[in-house]
Amino acid sequence: MTPDNPVPTWPFTREDALLPPPEFDELRARCPITQVEMWDGSRSWLATRADDMRAILRNPVMSADSSLAGYPNSSANHAASRGGQKGFIRMDAPEHDVQRRMLTTKFSIPKVAKLREFVERLVDELLDRMEARGGPVDLLEALAAPLPSMAICEIMGLPPQDAPFLLGRVNQWMDLNSDPERSAAAAAELSRYLDDLITERLEYRGEDLVSQLLTEQFEPGHISRLDLVGMLNLLIVGGFDTTANMIGLGTVLLLRHPDQMADLRENPELMPGAIEEMLRYLSVAHHVASRVPKEDVEIRGVCIHAGEGVMAPIPAANHDPGVFAEPSRFDIRRDARSHVAFGFGIHQCLGQNLARLELQVVFTKLLSRFPTLRLAVPENELDFRNSMIYGVSALPVAWSLERDS
Ligand code: HEM
Repeated sequence: MTPDNPVPTWPFTREDALLPPPEFDELRARCPITQVEMWDGSRSWLATRADDMRAILRNPVMSADSSLAGYPNSSANHAASRGGQKGFIRMDAPEHDVQRRMLTTKFSIPKVAKLREFVERLVDELLDRMEARGGPVDLLEALAAPLPSMAICEIMGLPPQDAPFLLGRVNQWMDLNSDPERSAAAAAELSRYLDDLITERLEYRGEDLVSQLLTEQFEPGHISRLDLVGMLNLLIVGGFDTTANMIGLGTVLLLRHPDQMADLRENPELMPGAIEEMLRYLSVAHHVASRVPKEDVEIRGVCIHAGEGVMAPIPAANHDPGVFAEPSRFDIRRDARSHVAFGFGIHQCLGQNLARLELQVVFTKLLSRFPTLRLAVPENELDFRNSMIYGVSALPVAWSLERDS
């Protein structure tokens, strides 16, 4: 570092609400692995190249255990909320692998494909309600938030009316700006709800995922009650905000590109590829993919000592021009499949098949049923959220009365 180039302060600020902060490009060109100053005055390493991100996330020395000293948290709240019990996303091999394997077949492509009918029906119902209310409506509240929360409720056999309670707890927990105590209280409330659920299901078993895990894993003694609560917690936290914000921000992104939106409406076979490009471009999981090495390790010639936090932000990797030409250009016809929006390595998203299904169904139906959809406020009046997962707090949209479908 020189006096002209002091240690940058983390986190960076976005200039364009839908693009990563410009510092990533500057650092990637000048100093792809650099130190940054954190909110508490400590320092962490920051990697901005896609190949370095992969090298970090595939290295078994890099721990995902946020209780280890040096683990990089993006705010006081982040630090407080990560202290709780949050499942195998914060475990390393071999414990991580044992627990993840209990779920892999349950979220496989064929298993998730069986949910298509449910997801289609749910999206139809949500869009019916939205249409009946008439615009403007908040798309987050009417569609983006209920869909993933009700899908997880269906998988876990929870009453759909519990979805708003779960959603509220997750939002409060994950908000980087909220009071750390409030955040920890929300996490504790969610854990209590899940522990009560286990008590209930131990008595009355059904066909749902929780019942299956109790019979297959808990009763034979393969998983403790505390870890089971952590696992269910993780499925709820992992599946809600991420998918909801992809729907919200994805809508803003498409509305910014009316030609591509029209192309997509006329050529629905482009939808799977367009979703991959939206995942790449938006990279909503902007504060995950942090690790702390348990031993000294070298990445791109930089020696990172044991206990020094490392962040490999997904938006930086997904906007690396070495992998994606003109990364700031949104292009539904580009091959974006090598993106890392779902992470990389052993912690790569377990729910990605479900997320893809939800996103493909929701955008196909939204575009065909609301061809005149538009923002009901200027885009610069939207409140983009500084949470663990990037998104918008509310998305007022409107449409013209005539229906083309
Ligand atoms: C892990 C993103 C949807 C469950 C991850 C990770 C990312 C991610 C980046 C890796 C975190 C890390 O390396 O530290 C996303 C995005 C989604 C999405 C962008 C939606 C568009 C879902 C859904 C579920 C889910 C719907 C649940 C059903 C999980 C779980 C993990 C995970 C359980 C931990 C995997 C492990 O540690 O082995 N997700 N996710 N995610 N996600 Fe997702």
